[in-house]
Amino acid sequence: MATTPDITGGVDCEESRIPQLKPIEESLQKLVHKAFASGGERGQAVKNFLNGTWIGEPLHVILTDIPIGAWTVALVCDGLDLMSSKREFAVAADASIGIGLAGAVGAAVTGVTDWQDADAPARRLGMIHGLLNVSATALFATSLILRKRKSRTSGRVLAGLGYGLMTYAAHLGGKMVYDYRVGVDRTDGETFPPDFVPVMSEADLAEAKPTRAEHDGVPILLVRRGDRIFALAETCSHFSGPLSEGKLVGDSIVCPWHKSRFALEDGRVLDGPAVHPQPCLQVRVQNGQIEVRKPLCGIAKPTPPAAAEPAVASQLA
Ligand code: FES
Repeated sequence: MATTPDITGGVDCEESRIPQLKPIEESLQKLVHKAFASGGERGQAVKNFLNGTWIGEPLHVILTDIPIGAWTVALVCDGLDLMSSKREFAVAADASIGIGLAGAVGAAVTGVTDWQDADAPARRLGMIHGLLNVSATALFATSLILRKRKSRTSGRVLAGLGYGLMTYAAHLGGKMVYDYRVGVDRTDGETFPPDFVPVMSEADLAEAKPTRAEHDGVPILLVRRGDRIFALAETCSHFSGPLSEGKLVGDSIVCPWHKSRFALEDGRVLDGPAVHPQPCLQVRVQNGQIEVRKPLCGIAKPTPPAAAEPAVASQLA
């Protein structure tokens, strides 16, 4: 996997208390990578599904709601069972634990799929988050077994412990999103010009060479493919990888960091781990200058080399 810089900045107090597990987490990440890579195109398709590329959101965050919700219901039902001794509450608690266990499997699989592309320090935090969730799941599974064996009191205690672990794991999951921006659209907040502005001389844009232009400090990816020019946000929506250093595959660009692939035509995600599309800019060529304006997809036709400089070379719909 490509090495990416630390993109999250400083270290806070909570992070400094986290044990140093780097060698373990890196080895584990490599193993997960290998497993998906060995599946070839099918492995990539499975990864796309688990990342949530097809819904435009991380699937993991949707599935985590199942165990959290179900186990909360189980705890409430346990409480009501204690107070009322109605058998219905005990049955409901057991069923909720079972539903939560099923959801936990989905949350774990999607979580590991997302985690394999996380960089430091989110990688370490993600591993601890995962281990805590596995422990919580094991406690709930044992709780269910004990309940079935008529050891309901022990089952309730284990469920309570599992809920505590799950809650702390959820806190770390929130930290990954809000502090380290895992799963967040990294192009969010980038502003593009509302009106056409020149960003590069048309003559400077080579054929099939992803090129970085800039407007007001915001990087823009320009790509010339034959008689067309494409413009996308240059910052990868996944983890801010530089798309101008990526590889062209047909009419798509592959991010150099984790290999997300975006269509040049409209910025849609063709392969994850990215789930958010790249903002796609409207392009035109005027007076020998490539001009772009804010997302409203378009493709420019460059000026033919032999033609005299027209007042307006092309404007795109
Ligand atoms: S930064 Fe991860 S795929 Fe681009």
